[in-house]
Amino acid sequence: MNYMNVDYSTKIPNNVNLSEDRQVLKALEGWHPGYMDWWGDMGPEGFQQSLVYLRTAYSVDPRGWAKFDYVKMPEYRWGILLAPQEENRVIPFGENYGKPAWQEVPGEHRATLRRLIVIQGDTEPASVEQQRHLGKTAPSLYDLRNLFQVNVEEGRHLWAMVYLLQKYFGRDGREEADDLLRRRSGDADSPRMLGAFNEATPDWLSFFMFTYFTDRDGKMQLHSLAQSGFDPLSRTCRFMLTEEAHHMFVGETGISRVVQRTCEAMKEAGITDPTDIAKVRALGVIDLPTIQKKLHLHYSLSLDLFGSEVSTNAANAFNAGIKGRYRETQIDDDHQLKNATYPVLKLVDGVITRVDEPALTALNMRLRDDYTQDCVKGMLRWNKVISTSGYQYKLTLPNVAFHRQIGEFKDIHATPEGILIDDATWNQHKGEWLPSTQDGDFIASLMKPVTEAGEYASWISPPKVGIDNKPGDFEYVKIET
Ligand SMILES: [Fe+2]
Ligand SMILES: [Fe+2]
Repeated sequence: MNYMNVDYSTKIPNNVNLSEDRQVLKALEGWHPGYMDWWGDMGPEGFQQSLVYLRTAYSVDPRGWAKFDYVKMPEYRWGILLAPQEENRVIPFGENYGKPAWQEVPGEHRATLRRLIVIQGDTEPASVEQQRHLGKTAPSLYDLRNLFQVNVEEGRHLWAMVYLLQKYFGRDGREEADDLLRRRSGDADSPRMLGAFNEATPDWLSFFMFTYFTDRDGKMQLHSLAQSGFDPLSRTCRFMLTEEAHHMFVGETGISRVVQRTCEAMKEAGITDPTDIAKVRALGVIDLPTIQKKLHLHYSLSLDLFGSEVSTNAANAFNAGIKGRYRETQIDDDHQLKNATYPVLKLVDGVITRVDEPALTALNMRLRDDYTQDCVKGMLRWNKVISTSGYQYKLTLPNVAFHRQIGEFKDIHATPEGILIDDATWNQHKGEWLPSTQDGDFIASLMKPVTEAGEYASWISPPKVGIDNKPGDFEYVKIET
């Protein structure tokens, strides 16, 4: 079997030779109807009979892996795709550094591995649930198509994790796979596992922020799991990252297009002060200070996803060879962190201070720092749009102590600049830093669907290039009537 190509002759497309793996095939076929029910109940609201111009993976060869065609979402071919196996791959870090990668789950690491796979798996359907209402207010057919592309691929990522659970974790793996369809984002009794995945995604600016900041947390987690000594997990994550890149593209270019449109409208109207919110809003675009508030919210929620700065769980997973660092194989050190330290920001006597911690326990902090560096890149591009338009305004990431629910700063309040403040000051000013109800209402008032091919809502610029190089007036979604 050629593992580069995907077998589409079976009900579940795959490149893992499912047709000869009867037991796993049976388990997946048993899980499939529940997945379709979940998609029907919690997937995109409406548009299920529309033809959407989607990409589907036909190969796992990075040089060419997807084909584009019109597909009704429920007929999307969700499948199991693993990156090709690297010959003689060794565990690239931890106590088993240099030993052959595992093709089966080592008994002593079973529980840790299962937990990490379940947590990753839980985020995938959660985001689909969070975004299910957005179709009816899409600013264009182009954006509508991108939303649905992200949604079907998050669905596929759920399949990816469910395959690992069902193939390698026996009965409890099958139970976990069922539970992944049972939890619901934001549900009081049975919520999703991580905080940011229980928040609402009320509007399209939130969607772009989510795909930029929260999908990027996913990217960092997938990168660390792609280093795993458990080879099937590594291969799964490597292919997921190929798809994930588009999700962050949607976020980065989405925010860029919102900023662009706002700047153009301000210029046309002769507005010189971008903080004159009322004047800017009267133009039917989103003012930069409100974009900054949304950014504060989504960045701080996403930082929480990295967990506590100092964590023995993270150290154990690293020692065990289960979860590595971002770009582990490109780091020049012993890959065991025997005597290394890493600077961690902590609250010491009420002051935010850098403290050297053993690098092993500071792995969450390190991954979060890598994440922050990655976040900055897109922000520079957004700020370029603003400065090129002749405005002085700069979007910035808030301080790590701002608006945190997990880790060192969860019990204090800080301004976006990182100045510690008391409860009263926080309550008095938080509406200046985080989106208020009025901000939400204003954005909601702009969320009117645009369904004419090639047309865009007032608050967002058209993209520079089309998907699959399609022309500007391409009908990305043929909405059923
Ligand atoms: Fe995903
Ligand atoms: Fe994603």
